[in-house]
Amino acid sequence: MEDRNSWSVKDEAILTDLVTLMNLSDEEKQALAASKPQAEEMAPQLINAFYERLLSHDNTAEYFGGNGMVEHLRGTLEAWFIQLFSGNYDTDYVNSRLTIGKTHVRIGLPVRYPLAMMDVLVEYGDKIAHMNGNAEVTSRAFRKLAALDIAIFNQAYENTQLDHLAEVVGNERLARRLLTK
Ligand code: HEM
Repeated sequence: MEDRNSWSVKDEAILTDLVTLMNLSDEEKQALAASKPQAEEMAPQLINAFYERLLSHDNTAEYFGGNGMVEHLRGTLEAWFIQLFSGNYDTDYVNSRLTIGKTHVRIGLPVRYPLAMMDVLVEYGDKIAHMNGNAEVTSRAFRKLAALDIAIFNQAYENTQLDHLAEVVGNERLARRLLTK
């Protein structure tokens, strides 16, 4: 198999790569930014639904300790959610989201859980899109940003796996080839 150009895309270049792929337009960015007040209004409900789901499933609940940990994480999730409506999806945006993805790698959380939890985000994104007069564009834009986050989460896991494997086998190219087997 030949080498692929996508193999050399790293860090912030991933954003450019994905944003180009998804063709996120200025109109879509503006529609999201215009929905920020509604996102702020709906955030508490979203956070409740998110933690209710995670805490009622034993395999996910075991990641949350006591001492106000969930209370603290509710705030970080709120900031993460509201940032989806900033209208500005630059390199700082992707880097901060990659770092958050990496936090989940570090705690030994299987990637299926954050990916599955995007369901709650998409449900609320859709509700928010229908609270303004531009539902079609806003909802399309939100789906793109949600897909971007799924890709970024996944990328954080893949980066870690590739880095470790590359260290063991000597270089990333060989590591990538091994992962195609
Ligand atoms: C859409 C999915 C998810 C999003 C958007 C999300 C968001 C976040 C954010 C913003 C932080 C704070 C990161 C930081 O302080 O650097 C965080 C930390 C954390 N998340 Fe998530 N999360 C998701 C899924 C999950 C799931 C499924 C679990 C567990 C089953 C989980 C458990 C945790 C824990 C335990 C921390 C604290 C880690 C630490 O600082 O030691 N998260 N999450």
